[in-house]
Formats: sequence, structure tokens, C-alpha cells
Amino acid sequence: MHKVLIAYISRTGMTEKMANFIAEGVRMAGQEAVVRKVAEISSEKDLEGYAGYIFGCPTYHRDMTNGMKTFLFLAQKANLTGKMGGAFCSYTHSGESGPMVFDTMQHVYKMDMVDLGALNLKEHVIGTQDGTKACQDYGRAVAGKLS
Ligand SMILES: Cc1cc2nc3c(=O)[nH]c(=O)nc-3n(C[C@H](O)[C@H](O)[C@H](O)COP(=O)(O)O)c2cc1C
Repeated sequence: MHKVLIAYISRTGMTEKMANFIAEGVRMAGQEAVVRKVAEISSEKDLEGYAGYIFGCPTYHRDMTNGMKTFLFLAQKANLTGKMGGAFCSYTHSGESGPMVFDTMQHVYKMDMVDLGALNLKEHVIGTQDGTKACQDYGRAVAGKLS
């Protein structure tokens, strides 16, 4: 069984909900999901031992949060080249952060990113049947490539 790390930032809990539904999808695909707040990851060593990484950040002020930017510099020190990856974002109207995080994982870390691109969900969809399924499908898509 492979381990997939789902690391996220969330101010009001919407991205956190997405993280947990994505973790369900990873488990449905038969892999192990570990869900962590970005603030709990203090060293690049905390990123060792995973076959896949899915990072999530809500959009604030048409940007990712400062905490996510700091985390992405930390993650640069871990060797994630060639590892499976995905990114996700909760938002209300513009949703820049998911694609931004995805872009860094793809072009800076040179990870093997899921073909679907970033999973961006408007916050009113999160917790609905469709929203839950979209998150689970995304987790399955990343984890499914690990077998
Ligand atoms: C001050 C503020 C600024 C925001 N800026 C944006 C934005 O630029 N684009 C967008 O799509 N959503 C924006 N949002 C909406 C949040 O992305 C949305 O509420 C999201 O679901 C929050 O996720 P979280 O609960 O994980 O923190 C903003 C919300 C607040 C309170």
C-alpha cells in the first residue's frame, strides 16, 4: 500500500472538508491517506515517505495564502520530482490558488501531476453530493496511478 499526503490550509473549514473527502477517495482506491494541516509540517523531513502529494489552499485576495507560499518553499527542499501530485482549492468567485499550487508542483518540483488539473470547487458545492463525489473522484485519480 502506498501513502498519499494531503496537506492543506483552511481558514473557515471549507478546504479542510475537501481534504477529508479527497482522503476518502484515496482510501477507496486502496491506498493510505494521511491528512495534515500545513502548519503541522515544520521540516522537509515531514514530507518523506509518501508516494503521492495533494496540496490544498483556499483563494483569498485572488492569491494563495502566505502560509501556503511558505510551505511551498519548504516543500522545494524535499525531493518530490516524479512523485504523483494534485492540488485543490475552495473559492467563491475567482479561484486562483488551486491552479497556482498545481503549477508550482508541476513546473518547479517536476512532479507527475494528475491529468485533471487542480480540483477547484465553489464553496457552496462542498458537502453536497456532487461536491463530495468530485473530491472522492480526485483522490481516486491520484491514488489510482500508484498501483
Ligand atoms: C477577505 C476574503 C477574500 C476572499 N478573496 C477571494 C478571491 O479573491 N477569490 C475567490 O474565489 N474567493 C475569495 N474568497 C472566498 C474564499 O476563498 C472562500 O470563502 C473559501 O471557501 C474559504 O475557504 P476556507 O474555509 O478553507 O478558508 C475570499 C474570502 C474572504 C473572506
